[in-house]
Amino acid sequence: MASVKHLLGIKELSAQEIMLYLNSAGSFKDILKRDIKKVPALRGRTVVNLFLEPSTRTRTSFELAAKRLSTDVINFSAPSSSILKGESLLDTALTVEALGADIIIIRHSSSGAPHMLSRHIKAHLINAGDGTNEHPTQALLDAFTIKEKKGGFEGLKVAIVGDIIHSRVAKSNIYCLKKLGADVRLVGPATLLPEEFRELGVSTTTSMDEGLEEADVIMMLRLQLERQGKGFFPTTAEYFRQWGLSKKRLETAKPDAIVMHPGPMNRGIEIASAVADGDNSVILEQVTNGLAVRMAVMYHLDERKEQ
Ligand code: CP
Repeated sequence: MASVKHLLGIKELSAQEIMLYLNSAGSFKDILKRDIKKVPALRGRTVVNLFLEPSTRTRTSFELAAKRLSTDVINFSAPSSSILKGESLLDTALTVEALGADIIIIRHSSSGAPHMLSRHIKAHLINAGDGTNEHPTQALLDAFTIKEKKGGFEGLKVAIVGDIIHSRVAKSNIYCLKKLGADVRLVGPATLLPEEFRELGVSTTTSMDEGLEEADVIMMLRLQLERQGKGFFPTTAEYFRQWGLSKKRLETAKPDAIVMHPGPMNRGIEIASAVADGDNSVILEQVTNGLAVRMAVMYHLDERKEQ
């Protein structure tokens, strides 16, 4: 792991590397339960949060994770930057690097934006979501949560439901869960679930009942209305009837199935409030685990850490 410079995607990681992040996240979660939650591991480093798309969970948890590791953190957003005056992404990243950034966390609407930067930037890069491509730290925190709740991955039946085609969360989770040995099925309307996904070693179905049958884990996805043109499904009410997770539909899965959602949720469109707030839901635990997982990722990328 010492030679890994960036975290651009789960696709490039081995199962062993994924497990190293998950195990370290367990240690950081223990630290976060203490009265003093801060450790000096990355003291003196500078972390830049370069978020060029909206975010609540990922941006704030990276900021807090960086502070818990004793780094200095700069938050950077498009509306208050010279990007509005036409400065390019590369010039922006080179500028923050010139100011001393050791780790740059980037979210961008274009798939491949962090990969492009990695060819020019010496700082460590962490992909916090690039277009419809990947969201690796979301998949790691999801895997961490699944491991906590289910003990492991081998043979676990995981249903990923909804707007698969636009979802970087789905792609990173497919790579991650397949590498760890889970049985992954994708569920959604044919318009949002292209057949090509089968090439990733998953099964697909348009039937919610079939997809949820005996599932151990149900991962609901946000309907990404901002990335869609018209015509993927008739109405949001029809979408909920066919692919929304209601209390009744949840009965198709195993009684102890966990319900996940990366957030932000569209309540009443892809998930009923009674399920989102119900006993099977681990949605807020996912958010909590994001902090420990992001501490683990930054810790492992930094090769000069204090031991
Ligand atoms: N899950 C996730 O990426 O949420 P945010 O867009 O709020 O960061």
